[in-house]
Amino acid sequence: RTVYVNGEYLPEDQATVSVFDRGFLMADAVYEVVSVLDGKLLDFAGHMTRLARSLDALAMTNPMSADEYLDAHRQLIERNGITDGLIYLQVTRGNPGDRDFAYPPEGTAPTVVMFTQSKPGLADSPVAQTGLKIVSVEDLRWGRRDIKTVQLLYPSMAKMEAKARGVDDAWLTEDGTVTEGTSNNAYIVKGGKIITRELSHDILHGITRAAVLRFAREAQMQVEERSFTIAEAQEADEAFITSASSFVMPVVEIDGKQVGKGDVGPVATRLREIYLEESR
Ligand code: PDD
Repeated sequence: RTVYVNGEYLPEDQATVSVFDRGFLMADAVYEVVSVLDGKLLDFAGHMTRLARSLDALAMTNPMSADEYLDAHRQLIERNGITDGLIYLQVTRGNPGDRDFAYPPEGTAPTVVMFTQSKPGLADSPVAQTGLKIVSVEDLRWGRRDIKTVQLLYPSMAKMEAKARGVDDAWLTEDGTVTEGTSNNAYIVKGGKIITRELSHDILHGITRAAVLRFAREAQMQVEERSFTIAEAQEADEAFITSASSFVMPVVEIDGKQVGKGDVGPVATRLREIYLEESR
């Protein structure tokens, strides 16, 4: 692969970042993942807006303009011959030259890294026909999940717990309600109504979430933004997740109990179709 590091396009084995980089030592970094279908970027502007918001929340100056990021994304697609896949972008607070809890002095250059992940047939995943099985795991992440930082150890642990329990993924719960998935937003459908947690510091403000809710409202579907419990999800007609990498993906089992009839439901199927049609 050709990857991007601080303005340069390099073979991946020649791309380097300092051992003192705060992204490495402190997880002092934010990221975005944008999907590519047929060579086209999905929801690019939304991801750039959220990147700016994440950086702002951490008092980091955005080192590049949206147009510069767009050019780099397009170059990486081109140089790596990506048809379907993902582009990962990470901005760290840079390399202060030593380890220190205090932020480095102003003017320390941020580190910008981007790379591609080729995923042929990304939109045709067979899982969309069968659905995901998930378990609930307590949400032990920090209190600013709306900032898309690279502190992904706890979501990784939750994912591994799900795998150890023989299922695909986990939904995280706090004070009895579902916050979100390990790397996606969570939804249930009851009586035709789409229910998903309201935006706050408790969850990532998903770019796919925003698009899917907009399309749902445009299609006259009812949407309610509120928290829900695992018990309510198990009694729902349908459940699903959204993210840039999975688009809309049905959930058919929660903590060993099937959701609805235990198969992929019409609302998740329709939303997936609408999202893929409208976004590409
Ligand atoms: N994850 N919630 C969390 C905790 C996430 O990590 C993500 C995205 C989402 C969905 O956001 P969006 O629709 O903007 O992708 C929700 C990305 C895909 C990842 O970490 O790979």
